Amino acid sequence: MWGGYQTTVNPMVEAQEKVDIVSFLEDIRGIVEPNRQMILDLMSGIQAHERGIGQLYWQYTQQTSNQWLKEQWEKFGKDTEVNRLVAERVMGALEGDPSYKSSLARDHEQFMRCFTNVQSQGSAGDQIRLGNLVMTENISKLLWKGVHRASASIKDAPTAKILADAGKIARATTEEHVTWNTAMYESYLSKLMLGM
Ligand SMILES: [Fe+2]
Repeated sequence: MWGGYQTTVNPMVEAQEKVDIVSFLEDIRGIVEPNRQMILDLMSGIQAHERGIGQLYWQYTQQTSNQWLKEQWEKFGKDTEVNRLVAERVMGALEGDPSYKSSLARDHEQFMRCFTNVQSQGSAGDQIRLGNLVMTENISKLLWKGVHRASASIKDAPTAKILADAGKIARATTEEHVTWNTAMYESYLSKLMLGM
């Protein structure tokens, strides 16, 4: 025995406490029965939104002459495609058709079309592109954050876990995309105003 250290923990008591906390969490976890169709509608919308951002990244990568933006947007485009896949897989896991397109999805598609046409050239064009990404990625972040938060109210444990995990994973990369594009947007503003 090291230094006379003795544990006072009784393994039987410890095991029972673990069982108690698990059933306690089961009791308080969720009170809402999931509405599968509503979740599928939302996931279809998220999928359309992420697809739209992925297309923006691809298009903007072709348009910019700033190598740093190009490289970062290529990476973010790939991450965003993974997030679209997460939404698609969630739809499949909830026994929905992953190719189903809700009216929310059509609205997201229409919304995303506003950001494809950039008239300004050079740094001014990049600044507009960064602003468009800040807006669309912020919405993406809010969507995934909402999925994660709402999952805590869902009673059905497998559905709650799928949505909690999906929300957590996709939100992490989306936050990085928001942060980076926002910082660059701010630095471009000084560049445009002061020419530096
Ligand atoms: Fe993204």
